[in-house]
Amino acid sequence: MSETQTIRVGLGDRSYNIDIGHGLLSTLGKRLAPFTNRRHVAIVTDGNVAKHHLASVEESLTAAGITHASVIVDPGESSKSYAGLATVCDGLLAAGVERNDLVLALGGGVIGDLAGFAAAVLRRGVRFVQVPTTLLAQVDSSVGGKTGINSPHGKNLVGAFHQPQYVLIDLSLLETLPQRERRAGYAEVAKYGLLGDAGFFNWLEEHAGDVIAVKPGSVDHAVATSCQMKAKIVAEDETETGVRALLNLGHTFGHALEAATGYSGKLLHGEAVAIGMVQAFRFSAKLGLCDPSLGSRVAKHLKAVGLPTHMRDISFNWPNAGELLRFMRQDKKASGGKLTFILVKGIGEAFIAKDVSDQHVLDFLNEDFART
Ligand SMILES: NC(=O)c1ccc[n+]([C@@H]2O[C@H](COP(=O)([O-])OP(=O)(O)OC[C@H]3O[C@@H](n4cnc5c(N)ncnc54)[C@H](O)[C@@H]3O)[C@@H](O)[C@H]2O)c1
Ligand SMILES: [Zn+2]
Repeated sequence: MSETQTIRVGLGDRSYNIDIGHGLLSTLGKRLAPFTNRRHVAIVTDGNVAKHHLASVEESLTAAGITHASVIVDPGESSKSYAGLATVCDGLLAAGVERNDLVLALGGGVIGDLAGFAAAVLRRGVRFVQVPTTLLAQVDSSVGGKTGINSPHGKNLVGAFHQPQYVLIDLSLLETLPQRERRAGYAEVAKYGLLGDAGFFNWLEEHAGDVIAVKPGSVDHAVATSCQMKAKIVAEDETETGVRALLNLGHTFGHALEAATGYSGKLLHGEAVAIGMVQAFRFSAKLGLCDPSLGSRVAKHLKAVGLPTHMRDISFNWPNAGELLRFMRQDKKASGGKLTFILVKGIGEAFIAKDVSDQHVLDFLNEDFART
């Protein structure tokens, strides 16, 4: 029921394994030994994760005869910045990291993106491994090699593709993750069902509570299915020239909402994605692409797990439709002035649409604002 599962991300000579199971952290040292040249690992983590899990990581490394140093940054999105990058790079250099050493990203998506990017540029590139500690990082950000930081011009605008050597997913680490963060990560789990696997979404409708409660068996299935789908899409389209864009279901709307709220604690990324996915379904229905009842079905499910499903669920003075459209344009996914939307024909049937007119978006947003 909860033995270790292994998923392979097939990328030629950059292929790697994702191991998924409960209580795997104690075996980390043994698992990392083949990746270390001089039995030394530099850990990058944040203060919250360090408090809960750094000692176990260090113990496991020491037991395997691996020495270690750590760089600990402040928790939160603000560390994914030029200043945060400098802290990590200089911290790693001060810890004596050499070209052939291994960097270990221990944390959520912020740490994975930041440590991964530092690894991509430090000494022109050192290898790194991911030990994701949030549900979002376990099902999404730790797999696929997108790394980077934010610029004052926008999120994730400075970065690199740098694949990890290995990803270790210890589901037990989610037990210390606050409920709100678990729910937000769950939105990305639901995303996989909604974009490409109706059977998985049906299963989630029955088991979402168990997934969020980190119940063995259920959380394993949800995380493994999500990683499997992400691995398949990344193997097909590593640098997002095509099919990888499907992973942005709910994100064109969601990113605009996040930008509008100033990336504050008012709206977590996964919460924005939850609202954005409902909008993507409703928008698709308005364009005559899918059954109008699906938006309500998706909203009902996300609401049942405690996620917001409409802008009105967030107490915030939202800007008008025109402003939201401007935020969408600032997203890096806009190319040549045209917005890319991920639309749906049904549950599990998402597709990439590059020809959506601004007027359709504005009409939809105005209607959505008015929705009671
Ligand atoms: N690279 C990608 O492909 C990709 C994909 C999706 C999202 N992202 C990025 O991921 C970031 C969001 O990641 P996130 O949601 O994991 O946020 P996060 O890394 O900020 O973690 C959320 C909070 O939980 C705390 N935390 C983490 N693990 C914990 C644990 N096990 N126990 C207790 N507390 C814990 C953190 O300290 C933080 O306060 C964003 O910057 C986003 O851009 C990247
Ligand atoms: Zn996302």
